[in-house]
Amino acid sequence: MRIAISTGGGDAPGLNAVIRAAVLSAINRGWEVLGIKRGFAGLLGEDEVIPLTRESVRGIAHLGGTILRTTNRGNPFHYPHRQADGSMGEIDRSDELIEAATRHGIDALISIGGDGSLAIAQRLCDKGMRIVGVPKTIDNDVSGTITTFGFDTAVNTALEAIDKLHTTAESHDRVIVLEVMGRDSGFIALHSGLAGTADVILIPEIPYDLNKVCQKIMSRDRAGRHFSIVVVAEGAYPRGGEVSVMGESLPGQAKRVGGLCEPIAREIQRLTGKESRSLVLGHLQRGGMPTGYDRLLATRFGGAAVQAIADEKWGHMVALQSPYIVTITIEEALREPKRVDPNHDVVQTARMTGISFGD
Ligand code: F6P
Repeated sequence: MRIAISTGGGDAPGLNAVIRAAVLSAINRGWEVLGIKRGFAGLLGEDEVIPLTRESVRGIAHLGGTILRTTNRGNPFHYPHRQADGSMGEIDRSDELIEAATRHGIDALISIGGDGSLAIAQRLCDKGMRIVGVPKTIDNDVSGTITTFGFDTAVNTALEAIDKLHTTAESHDRVIVLEVMGRDSGFIALHSGLAGTADVILIPEIPYDLNKVCQKIMSRDRAGRHFSIVVVAEGAYPRGGEVSVMGESLPGQAKRVGGLCEPIAREIQRLTGKESRSLVLGHLQRGGMPTGYDRLLATRFGGAAVQAIADEKWGHMVALQSPYIVTITIEEALREPKRVDPNHDVVQTARMTGISFGD
């Protein structure tokens, strides 16, 4: 048996722990393991396919990033392609990819990725490839699994920032607006904001009204709390307004959202007269050592993915349904994206403790 592993989409702390656990579990069954570099690009002549041995995965479980590299521009069904007139277009290279996998003698593939990579895996399965998925996203926006590795690390990184911003905001009587990741879902903002006792949390699932945000800040001010911490998910948007889009995307890449914290801070300063500052936490949330929770979850996912291959669960992904790791079909996981439920107890608790969602 020869299996291959690929990591696609944005990196997340814990990817290396998944790779390590999958490689060791497979080798201990007597299987061979290959690593496909940069998502699926390694099978499309762009980089390479490498052997993964005990030696290749030694000492990597605690490292952020992915030893296999990754890309968010490698969808084989819409592959970036320079056209005859020099402009960039897209072509379908999925057949070429399947041929390359056959040429390398790959019997089954573990595809580690978020909703985008899992959707690609599903389409490749439909074309006959034998694939098992491992959900990955710091945003925690994949359904069917209670959480994904990387999320806990990202929340802790955001929490550390909130803690540090608190002392400086209080010392200067300032409002500080912290922008965290979360393109379509506000889990990082919600969890770090509640754990870090923010005063305002803005998430895509609850469109905000800046006047309400300012009312909260001013009511704190009147109560002698002259500073406020506002945590904003990058995909949050005002009621009746639009998501903030940043800069140019490269061909094959989803639009980049974010960059809203500075305009929000400026507007808060204008409306309240309170000195306001902003900070985009950005890719710090994707880097660094995975927390113990994420390392454990990632390791369990890696082992479970190899078990799923042994059980021939093609088109399934591993998932946490506490206290167990289970497998569910990728189709089921992708049916509906996971979003913050505004009636969830985490939101209710935030409201009960006085946090405003700007609504
Ligand atoms: O999907 C995970 C994520 O961290 C999003 O929250 C964010 O919008 C995106 O990745 C950023 O991706 P990139 O690194 O390509 O800018």
